[in-house]
Amino acid sequence: MSDSADTRPDPADGGHPGYRTEPVSFTRRGGRLNDRQQKSWDLLADTMVVDVPRSGPSTSVDPQYVLDTDALFGRSARLVVEIGSGRGEVLVHAATEAPDTDFLGLEVYKPGVAQTLIGVRHGGLTNVRLAIVNAAEALTTTLPEASVDELWVHFPDPWHKKRHQKRRLVTPAFAHLAARVLKPGGTWRLATDWAEYAEQMAEVVAGSPDFEGGRSERWDGRVLTRFEAKGIAAGREIHDLTAVRR
Ligand SMILES: C[S@@+](CC[C@H](N)C(=O)[O-])C[C@H]1O[C@@H](n2cnc3c(N)ncnc32)[C@H](O)[C@@H]1O
Repeated sequence: MSDSADTRPDPADGGHPGYRTEPVSFTRRGGRLNDRQQKSWDLLADTMVVDVPRSGPSTSVDPQYVLDTDALFGRSARLVVEIGSGRGEVLVHAATEAPDTDFLGLEVYKPGVAQTLIGVRHGGLTNVRLAIVNAAEALTTTLPEASVDELWVHFPDPWHKKRHQKRRLVTPAFAHLAARVLKPGGTWRLATDWAEYAEQMAEVVAGSPDFEGGRSERWDGRVLTRFEAKGIAAGREIHDLTAVRR
């Protein structure tokens, strides 16, 4: 994660001045792929990475576009969506364990998506798709209402400086979007290594009329990622939360 809170239009985003009126939860980072990532990208991106129609910045999505998830996976199955899937460690593990479930990773960082494709390729997985997209937009319009069985937000960028906290992903407005896409009875899983963000998450869940839940134990499926390992090495405590869509 970058500490920069630059909200100016990014030339990498097409340089659309003033396109985004809200701060986003990410900064664009270098998009260069290493050789292994490039190889997996070349082999798999056409089939595994959603060709998202844009409406401006390169992480945006045309608000008219609605994803047909059954068509995307070529079947009708349980759907898990991970927001900020990073290098894909959790997604690839889960997809390997549950071949009857479909997994969609929403991630703005192309090398992370390409790294995930390495895992997909090595595992011969057919139940994973990825989209390079601002998840907040995807949850607003791209994903159909009540289409998702589980939504995962593991270690969203903490934006720990006071002046940057408006960029945090997990807010009451985001809970509303999570509720929009989750099926009744669907599960929202969250984790963070930032105690004060965990407090915010707990308040968001408790304050939402759409969810029941709060702090929870770590669940087996959330395998250790490189990002979490760094937090642990730095002495931070890990906080998990689980909420159920009413
Ligand atoms: C701190 S990393 C954690 C990655 C992974 N979940 C893990 O546990 O290792 C947060 C990730 O979320 C991604 N991200 C942040 N805001 C996002 C958004 N609005 N839409 C999609 N991805 C986002 C970042 O690019 C980054 O890869």
